[in-house]
Amino acid sequence: MAVWPAVFALNGDESMTGTSLSTSRILLVIGGGIAAYKALELIRRLRERGARTRVVMTSAAKQFITPLSAAALSGDKVYDDLFSLTDEAEMGHIELSREADLVVVAPATADLLARMANGLADDLATTALLATDKKTLVAPAMNLRMWLHPATQRNVAALRQDGVLFVGPDDGEMACGEYGPGRMAEPLAVVAAIEAALAKSTSLALPAGVGRVSGERASGPLAGRHVLVTSGPTHEPIDPVRFIGNRSSGLQGHAIAQAAADAGARVTLVSGPVCIPDPKGVEAVHVEDARAMLAAVQAASPADIFIGAAAVGDWRVAHFGAQKIKKGAAGPPTLALVENPDILATISRKSPARPTLVVGFAAETEHVIDNARDKLRRKRCDLIVANSVAEGTGTFGGSANAVHLVTAAAVESWPEMSKQEVAERLIERLVAILKDKT
Ligand code: CTP
Repeated sequence: MAVWPAVFALNGDESMTGTSLSTSRILLVIGGGIAAYKALELIRRLRERGARTRVVMTSAAKQFITPLSAAALSGDKVYDDLFSLTDEAEMGHIELSREADLVVVAPATADLLARMANGLADDLATTALLATDKKTLVAPAMNLRMWLHPATQRNVAALRQDGVLFVGPDDGEMACGEYGPGRMAEPLAVVAAIEAALAKSTSLALPAGVGRVSGERASGPLAGRHVLVTSGPTHEPIDPVRFIGNRSSGLQGHAIAQAAADAGARVTLVSGPVCIPDPKGVEAVHVEDARAMLAAVQAASPADIFIGAAAVGDWRVAHFGAQKIKKGAAGPPTLALVENPDILATISRKSPARPTLVVGFAAETEHVIDNARDKLRRKRCDLIVANSVAEGTGTFGGSANAVHLVTAAAVESWPEMSKQEVAERLIERLVAILKDKT
């Protein structure tokens, strides 16, 4: 394990911006573009703020700036050779990106983005990027036509999907004389994006039990906590081919499970039948109906936080037909229904095993807040996330959500935002409430 570079004393006239940046270790991958000179400025800015920067340069980057300049500014040697025996002995390429708190690629050229999006690892920079267990922030810089090309946009979409964070590119005049999007974000904007990324957990989740060296613990505000989430609809069987279901897509519940895992929690996601993949790094249990969902939740308990985001079927048919119900002279069958167990109310019951925080959802078509307050009382949970699913809101299956957080003490209404943002903000809020309670 190589020692990270020490930092400059702070300049008198420039203040530090946040404690996390001042103690952070940044692995900076410099790609080969005319904007590489901005990476030197970025190193200087980071170092002024107390962050330690270790630099990897691609061979193309060395056509634009010298490793000597980067080394002088970072106070450390510059890494550029995948097959350097000395470097491997001193600091293997895996450690390079794992010892960092965040990986930053600036400038990220179209070629580098394409190689990242496709998981190529044919030099030290791309190998470090593929081997990392930390989040990556990229600052793209390229000619505007290269940026707007469908191939680059496809790669950007794929990288975003993989959780890669972006800052820029900015609009402006390019070195090539054209005007449009493609300029690398200014170094101080990159610093701000780094700070924002560091404020959240930067560890990448892996499937439970995979990749963690023994003794090593997850990091993040929910490290050491168990979060249990239900998501999706339930299918209550009528006969072997028919069921009673609902329109829940599972998008919101799955996003919450992902956000909890990103915050370092051990997450169990009990999901009804959905068409979306399991979030990364959570233990997913797949069930069909409400009773199976309750059994799975009880089997996964205890938990520190329970979040009931599933749209659980309220009723099931009293008599499940083992054979397909046939049409006949007797006319349409009458389905007798019985009520399903209430999972949220069951988990919320007073007991030594009750989670510290029990959160329910209320999907309403009218009187959203009043109904949510009523549910909070009836189900004795700590918080209800209420939203309108009235016709025209597009909440079911849509990517956005406008929610109200209802507690016994207050109602807080959030503006419409993506389900992912709702999930991240909700988890942040639960972290704060949990801190107060424990
Ligand atoms: N819930 C549950 N088990 C059930 C029904 C609901 O755990 N059998 C949970 C949901 O996951 C959600 C909350 O209770 O967190 C509210 O669900 P909702 O369907 O809105 O409430 P109901 O009690 O079914 O009330 P109603 O359908 O009459 O509005």
